[in-house]
Amino acid sequence: CLFKMSFGEILPIPPLLEEKDGVFNLKVIEGEYEFFDGTEESTLGYNGNILGQTIRVKKGDMVEIHVNNSLKEDTTVHWHGLRVIGIMDGGPHQVIKPGTTWKVRFPIEQEAATLWYHPHLLHKTGIQVYKGLAGLFIIDDERSDSLNLPKNYGVDDIPLIIQDKRFDSQMKLEYLTRNEDIINGMLGNVGIINGVVDPTFKPQLGVTRFRILNGANARTFNLAFSDNRSFYQIATDGGFLEKPIRRKSLLLAPGERAEILVDFKSLNEKVELRDGDYSLLTLIPKDEESKVEKVPKMLNQKVKLPDTSKMKKRYFVMQGSGRTVNINGKQMDMDRIDEYVKLNEPEIWVVTNASHHMGRDMMMGGGMSSMMGNIPHPFHIHNTQFRILNRNGRPPYKWERGYKDTVLVDPGETVELLVEFRHAGLFMYHCHILEHEDMGMMGQFNVS
Ligand code: C2O
Ligand code: CU
Ligand code: CU
Repeated sequence: CLFKMSFGEILPIPPLLEEKDGVFNLKVIEGEYEFFDGTEESTLGYNGNILGQTIRVKKGDMVEIHVNNSLKEDTTVHWHGLRVIGIMDGGPHQVIKPGTTWKVRFPIEQEAATLWYHPHLLHKTGIQVYKGLAGLFIIDDERSDSLNLPKNYGVDDIPLIIQDKRFDSQMKLEYLTRNEDIINGMLGNVGIINGVVDPTFKPQLGVTRFRILNGANARTFNLAFSDNRSFYQIATDGGFLEKPIRRKSLLLAPGERAEILVDFKSLNEKVELRDGDYSLLTLIPKDEESKVEKVPKMLNQKVKLPDTSKMKKRYFVMQGSGRTVNINGKQMDMDRIDEYVKLNEPEIWVVTNASHHMGRDMMMGGGMSSMMGNIPHPFHIHNTQFRILNRNGRPPYKWERGYKDTVLVDPGETVELLVEFRHAGLFMYHCHILEHEDMGMMGQFNVS
C-alpha cells in the first residue's frame, strides 16, 4: 500500500528556538512546501513552512511564550504533556484569532522529558496538525544534565518526529478523502520524518540518543531496525525510566514519545528504522566517535506507588466508531463539564476500549480489524503525567512504567491510571487519533 520516492535527503533537525528578551516567539504561518520535487503544497508551520522549532527549557525556569497567528483562520497551541494551569494549556478554549498574539507565562515544574506542542482547535486539530503544525518541547533538569547520556542536540541527541501523510497518484497531499478515514482516522501512504520523506542520518560511532515523537494523526508505528538489533528505551512520555530497558521493537501510538539509545559499532552498519517492512529512516554511521560509549545502568529514582486501595475511581469507556465515537456515551461539548476533579488528590482513572478484540493490526496499510472500527485508541489526559497501574488487571509492561500522558488501549482492554492534577482549570481528555478527537471522542474536566 505504501509507496515512496527515495530522495536520500539528509535528515533535517528542527532548530532550537532562541529566546529573545526572555521570550520564545512562535509565529503560525502558512507556507509552500515540497514533499516531492515539483509538487508544492500549502502547509502550516511555526516560524517556518512546516513543523516548528524545538523549545528547550529547564525545570525551575519561568517560561514566556508569545504565539502570533498569521493565518486567516483560528488556531490554538497546546503544550502536550506539560503541567500548567487551564488558561495556559492551549486547549480548544484558548483560541488565537487571526492576526492576534497569545501570551503565556508559566513555571516548569516537572522533570526532564520530551514533550511537544500542537494546535487543539475544536474539530480542526486533525487538519492543522496534518498540514504541518507540531514541534518539540524539551525539558532538562539536574538529573538529565548529570547522566552520562548523549545530549548534544542534532549531533548525538536526535529528534525524530514521525508522521505519515497520504499522497494521490499526482503526489498531491490528500486529507479525509475516503470513507474509511472517518473510521481509522487519517492514515497516510508515505512515512515522513522531520518533514521529509525517507531521509538519511549519519550517527557517530558509539551511542546515539533518539527522541521519538509519534506526531501522526492516526497511525500507530511499530518501530524496529532492519537488522533486528536491540536498543535501549530510556524514557517514556514524561521522563526517564528507572533504568534502560532493552528492546527490539517499539510500539508508539499518536501523541506518545520515547527516547532510545542505539549503539553503532562499525562504519559498515547501514541500517534502516522501519515500521513493519516500511523503511522510514536510513542510518549510516560516520567516522567520528561519540562521547558516550556505554548505556548508563540507572536513570531515575525507583518508582514508589502510593497505596491506591482507597482512592476514588473514575470510569471512561471509549466506544462507537466513525462519526459515533464517544466517551461514556457523550461527544465533546464545549459547554459541558464532564468531570469535576480535586486539586492535588490522586485518583484512579479506569479507561476501557469497549470495541471487540480482533487482534492488533496496525502495520502500514491497516487491515480488517480497523475497517470494523475495532481499533486501539490512544487515551490522552491534559495537565498530568500519570502511572499505568495495570492492563486488564496485569502489571504494565516494564517499558511503560515511567511517566505517561498518553496510553494505547486495545479493543477489549481496560487500563487503570494513577493520576494527579497540580494545576487548576479546565482541561481535556481524549483519544489522540486526531480525527476521533475532532469527531467528539473528547471530554472536559475541571480541576479545583
Ligand atoms: Cu496532544 Cu489534547 O493533545
Ligand atoms: Cu495534551
Ligand atoms: Cu480513537
